[in-house]
Amino acid sequence: MTSAGGHYFQERPGAAARPGTVEMVLPDVHFRLATDSGVFSGDRLDPGTRVLLETVPPPPAGGDLLDLGCGYGPVALTMAARAPEATVWAVDVNRRAVELCGRNATAAGLYKVRSVHADEVPPQVRFAAIWSNPAIRIGKPALHAMLTRWLDRLVPGGTAHLVVQKHLGADSLQRWLTGQGFATTRVASRSAYRVLAVSARPAPGPDRPTEEHPP
Ligand SMILES: C[S@@+](CC[C@H](N)C(=O)[O-])C[C@H]1O[C@@H](n2cnc3c(N)ncnc32)[C@H](O)[C@@H]1O
Repeated sequence: MTSAGGHYFQERPGAAARPGTVEMVLPDVHFRLATDSGVFSGDRLDPGTRVLLETVPPPPAGGDLLDLGCGYGPVALTMAARAPEATVWAVDVNRRAVELCGRNATAAGLYKVRSVHADEVPPQVRFAAIWSNPAIRIGKPALHAMLTRWLDRLVPGGTAHLVVQKHLGADSLQRWLTGQGFATTRVASRSAYRVLAVSARPAPGPDRPTEEHPP
C-alpha cells in the first residue's frame, strides 16, 4: 500500500492521524479495535487475517507466543484471548501500530499482551508459537531476513502459522522455507489465501552431518 502518507510498514507513518474503529467478530471473540491511518488494513479486518484466525489450531496454553507484525492487534488479541495464561509478544516496526495494539489489548483486558517495537523483545525470549500475516510487500530479501530472525526463536517443536496470499507467492515461500530447513506444510487454502505451518528447524548439533563430516 502506498499513499501520500507512505507505507504501512514505516516506523513513523507520515499520514495525518485519522482515528477509526474496526469491529472484529469471530466465533469465539468480539473486539472493537481502535485503528488509524498509516497502519495496515485500518478500515476492516483483513480477509487474510480472518482466514488465519479461523483456521489456526489453538495456541499453546502458556509460555511466550508471538504475533509477528501486529498492526493494530487483531492477531495478538485473539491469541491472548485463546491462551489467557500465555505472554503474547506483539511486535511491529510501525510505532503507530505498536501503540494502537497496546491500547487495544488494555481496553480488552488482555494484560498479558506486550506490544513493543520489533527491536525491543529481550533476546533470551523463545516462542512456543508464532502467528503472522507477514508483510510480504517489504520485498523478498527483507521478508526472508525477518522470517529467519523470528522463526529461529521458536522453541524446539514449536510451530509458526503464516497466512499468505496465493498471488503474492505463498507456494514459493513454502518452498523457500523448506529449503532453509524449516519443514513447512500447507494446512489451509481458502479463497485467495494459504495458511502455512512452519516447524522450528533443528539446531546444528554434533550429530548432524556437515560438509566436513558427511553421513
Ligand atoms: C500484513 S500486516 C498485518 C498486520 C496485522 N497483524 C493484521 O493482521 O491486521 C504486516 C505488519 O508487519 C509489519 N512489519 C513490516 N516489517 C516488519 C518487520 N521487519 N518486523 C516486524 N513487523 C514488520 C507491518 O508494519 C505491518 O503492520
